Amino acid sequence: ISKKNKKKHFLSLSEGIFAYLNYHVPRTRREILEVLIKGLHRLEYRGYDSAGVGIDGGNSKEWETNSKNIHLIKQTGKVKALDEEIHRQQDVDLDVEFDVHLGIAHTRWATHGVPSPVNSHPQRSDKNNEFIVIHNGIITNYKDLKKFLESKGYEFESETDTETIAKLVKYMYDNRESDAITFATLVEQVTQQLEGAFALVFKSVHYPGEAVGSRRGGPLLIGVRSDHKFSTDHIPILYRSSGKDKKSCNTLPRMDEDTCLFPVDEKAVEYYFASDASAVIEHTNRVIFLEDDDIAAVRDGHLSIHRIKRTAGDHPARAIQTLQMELQQIMKGNFSSFMQKEIFEQPESVVNTMRGRVNFENNTVILGGLKDHIKEIQRCRRLIMIACGTSYHAGVATRQVLEELTELPVMVELASDFLDRNTPVFRDDVCFFISQSGETADSLLALRYCKERGALTVGITNTVGSSVSRETDCGVHINAGPEIGVASTKAYTSQFVALIMFALLMCDDRISVQPRRREIIQGLKVLPDLIKEVLSLDEEIQKLAAELYQQKSVLIMGRGYHYATCLEGALKIKEITYMHSEGILAGELKHGPLALVDKLMPVIMIIMRDHTYTKCQNALQQVVARQGRPIVICDKEDYETIKNSSRTIKVPHSVDCLQGILSVIPLQLLSFHLAVLRGYDVRLFSTHFHLTS
Ligand code: UD1
Ligand code: F6R
Repeated sequence: ISKKNKKKHFLSLSEGIFAYLNYHVPRTRREILEVLIKGLHRLEYRGYDSAGVGIDGGNSKEWETNSKNIHLIKQTGKVKALDEEIHRQQDVDLDVEFDVHLGIAHTRWATHGVPSPVNSHPQRSDKNNEFIVIHNGIITNYKDLKKFLESKGYEFESETDTETIAKLVKYMYDNRESDAITFATLVEQVTQQLEGAFALVFKSVHYPGEAVGSRRGGPLLIGVRSDHKFSTDHIPILYRSSGKDKKSCNTLPRMDEDTCLFPVDEKAVEYYFASDASAVIEHTNRVIFLEDDDIAAVRDGHLSIHRIKRTAGDHPARAIQTLQMELQQIMKGNFSSFMQKEIFEQPESVVNTMRGRVNFENNTVILGGLKDHIKEIQRCRRLIMIACGTSYHAGVATRQVLEELTELPVMVELASDFLDRNTPVFRDDVCFFISQSGETADSLLALRYCKERGALTVGITNTVGSSVSRETDCGVHINAGPEIGVASTKAYTSQFVALIMFALLMCDDRISVQPRRREIIQGLKVLPDLIKEVLSLDEEIQKLAAELYQQKSVLIMGRGYHYATCLEGALKIKEITYMHSEGILAGELKHGPLALVDKLMPVIMIIMRDHTYTKCQNALQQVVARQGRPIVICDKEDYETIKNSSRTIKVPHSVDCLQGILSVIPLQLLSFHLAVLRGYDVRLFSTHFHLTS
């Protein structure tokens, strides 16, 4: 198994991990399951499509006997459906009591394989459930690992990347050098082989009553609860000794009083592993936040934290922190709605769209879902992008770069209109269906229409297992994580990025466009940081919203790459603020819309330094000539526009065809703040906490 570089990764905050370990705190199986199910309920708001639990099986009076046998219950759909499934289990005695027990639970959002019980977590090592694991994130090298494990005779049952982790830990166990190997060491060996982003919790029949968790790029914390005083409030990190005895698997320093957390007087203690504090807070406010590459292990009720090697700047200990907020407050916190949470997730969600697909070192793009079809697509007569609403705007936004890099005619169609027109479609057309949900009725009808006419159909969707994903011939999952807010925000920017990746792929063997490809790929590389910079304008945009919210109407004008931003901004404003808003192509101003402009009409203009710059300046002059006082979204280094405008929103510069990702975010933020100020219901949920040590 190759050892590759470990890079810092972001991880979108979807999916949910929850594990509960009771140590000398007797609990019936019913109570344990209730804790697990409740934990999952607390994580529900992040979005998921299936759920599962793993607990000790067996109905003996002896927990040691029961822990030799792990029972998995998994179900598609809501946590409630899982709970019902649990109560349908015939062979599970809910009254059996466990003095020591680890239960693990998970909510999954499908990225590898459709939502189904077998693809849900926990994933297992083998039919005997020797090792089970729950996982948030994406393992990008899972195909290589899977190939390796299959060559060693391990059989796979699911389509998930996570299953490779469960098999790999068993492989490490089966090939252990000593029976004294600890669970933490095994997990350490596994995580060294993993690429991508993850938070993980493991359970095993070989290590009853023990839990091991680790993370890289995804959040993981441990809540601790005991009626007794803890041995420490800072858990020192144990480093694997670099020493002489390299071969031994037991070179970790001894776990003792000074290196572990445990209750001093009495042995009773409970541990909660979770990807999100909201699942833990009702049990305890004492939590430890793990850092990337920490391996946290509970053994004999003692919690220790290991790392392979010490690097400069490492903090030598993890503090037990006290969560100051109550559940209610946590749920409210900094983000007041899904929409706001999702807008702020965009630096991460665009990374997830590109993860494992764009190689910034050698400027290549791989789309696994299209590689078998790309030759056929390159030979087609035209590309037709078909979608509704925001997804349609993603097509409008990328049309120009698609035309440029594919040298094909590109049509962008609203699904309903496309159907109304009985648009002619031919066998040598390639039809794209862009849909966040993958279930939009008009898009699906158009998909079937195009299939009947023999065109190749390609899906661009966020939902694995959706109708678009299943019914298209091939496609790209945008992997933005669940989008729960009614207004589509992060899906738009991820669709945008996915279509750009497609355009790059279409021209990867054309020598003449290589400089342009490199420019765009390097633009994609820095995009997350630029998005963060735009998000930092939030306060300024909130102030602007305060000035605008009592208005009746807002016009948004732009052209070229930013026409889509105008349409999308206006749609967002209409949809969630109930204000009238119109996106106007600046080139059309003199053909009618200019009549709407006067000194009272709020106007937002988008002016960027691309090939339309001079024309946009002309439009600005036309608006000013009618006494309009536009708010201009412009490049922060465009001093000319800044000087000539009374009000600007300054965004960082990107490559022309990516700039639309940055110009749309101020309008997402603006529509959000307008909605709040206009008093529309903003549902309360959040992901931020206030901590004290
Ligand atoms: C796949 C994994 C991804 C992983 C990557 C690593 C799945 C679902 N995805 O991604 O999580 O990181 O390998 O190599 O297992 N498809 C359609 N229509 C659509 C969307 C997709 O037919 O609308 C098809 C694709 O053609 C492909 C499959 O679904 O056959 C998976 O697509 P996608 O997730 O985009 O593929 P990869 O990027 O290879
Ligand atoms: C706007 C919005 C809608 C959707 C449209 C298509 O904020 O969410 O306009 O974009 O209903 O939905 P999908 O992309 O799921 O096909």
